[in-house]
Amino acid sequence: MPFDIARTRAAYPALAEGFAHFDGAGGTQTARPVIEAVSAAMTAATGNRSTAFVPGRRSLDLVAAARAAVADLLGAEPGGVVLGPSATALTYTLARTLGAGWGPGDEVVVSRLDHDANVRPWVQAAEAAGATVRWAEFDPATGELPAGQYADLVTERTRLVAVTAGSNAIGTAPDVATIAKTAHAAGALVCVDGVHAVPHGPTDLASLGADFLVTSAYKWSGPHLAAMAAEPARWASLRPAKLLPSSDAVPDRFEYGTPSFPLLAGVAAAVDHLATLDPTATGSRRDRVRAGLAAAQAHEEAVFERLLAGLTARPFVTVYGSPARRCPTVSFRVAGSAPAETAATLGAAGVCLSSGDYYAYEYFRTMGLRDSGGAVRASVYHYSTVEEVDRLLAELDRVAATGERMAR
Ligand SMILES: Cc1ncc(COP(=O)(O)O)c(C=O)c1O
Repeated sequence: MPFDIARTRAAYPALAEGFAHFDGAGGTQTARPVIEAVSAAMTAATGNRSTAFVPGRRSLDLVAAARAAVADLLGAEPGGVVLGPSATALTYTLARTLGAGWGPGDEVVVSRLDHDANVRPWVQAAEAAGATVRWAEFDPATGELPAGQYADLVTERTRLVAVTAGSNAIGTAPDVATIAKTAHAAGALVCVDGVHAVPHGPTDLASLGADFLVTSAYKWSGPHLAAMAAEPARWASLRPAKLLPSSDAVPDRFEYGTPSFPLLAGVAAAVDHLATLDPTATGSRRDRVRAGLAAAQAHEEAVFERLLAGLTARPFVTVYGSPARRCPTVSFRVAGSAPAETAATLGAAGVCLSSGDYYAYEYFRTMGLRDSGGAVRASVYHYSTVEEVDRLLAELDRVAATGERMAR
């Protein structure tokens, strides 16, 4: 059955404003069921977690429901889902916790393709422990992160390999499973940044080979919250810094302070929403989420193909990277127009794209593009349309024409 784009778009009230959204990589629009779930949770009587009274029990239920939903999204166990305010905060917590057990001679491997949220926490934890940081390099021409290099990078001293499942800058989807195999053969743990990849297709913790997998709900139609999944036994083996009276249970042990219960309702609703993207899907929520994201992926790939073809056909556009396996995200520059200027001109026409380095700090630094403004990024999501792509390309033609006039 073809993807029902009209039905899909109708679930996003914000789309009625008429912007063309190409910044899903920075955060998607919110699906109506999410808005309704958050509102319902805020309308109902609330209380901090307690078994003593109904509002307190509701908060306990909201936490449990969010864990179960994320578990279905990632192929994890609900008891292995740590909830938190952002992927960055969760990764810092993990890095500080693991890093407390490292010392001189230990090694961690990070990549220059990753968002800084899966780089700096590890680099800083390694520095604090006197451990050594080793860098995986991407191919500047293709934007690929060759998995083969990990055979040299990983040694018996490697404690942790941090790698992205999808680059938020140029879309590259590295061969994480092979990288994880190499890491595991040496006894190292693997932390996978799924923030960019998870919204764009079915994800499975075990097939990725991830010991830890992080995702942010605001990249998949939900609220600004995040989650990190691992085997419950893995979490149980770790002792994070924590308050004395807070729960020592797993996974609660890794969660700081009182969570936003209404937003957790939104996390569960977002996963439920993803499970409706293929209306023909049946079975468990996990089955339906996988089917929904597979249907969305096929649609996104078709829209992205048109975008990429349009960009590469324009001589005044420079596209960075050409990875074979990728998420529907691309960075580029327009000749004669600084990235911030391009984004502002498109923004004035209601076409929303980011510019800069989007925290893919090492990528843009290595490419020598960071100091001159990075690039412009277009990211396709399941509510994107080919008409919006054509609108973006037409606006780019206008940007280029203005640039040419200015140069004359
Ligand atoms: C690939 C990737 N990793 C990590 C992050 C950080 O996520 P958060 O904002 O939840 O900390 C982002 C945010 O854009 C991202 O794109």
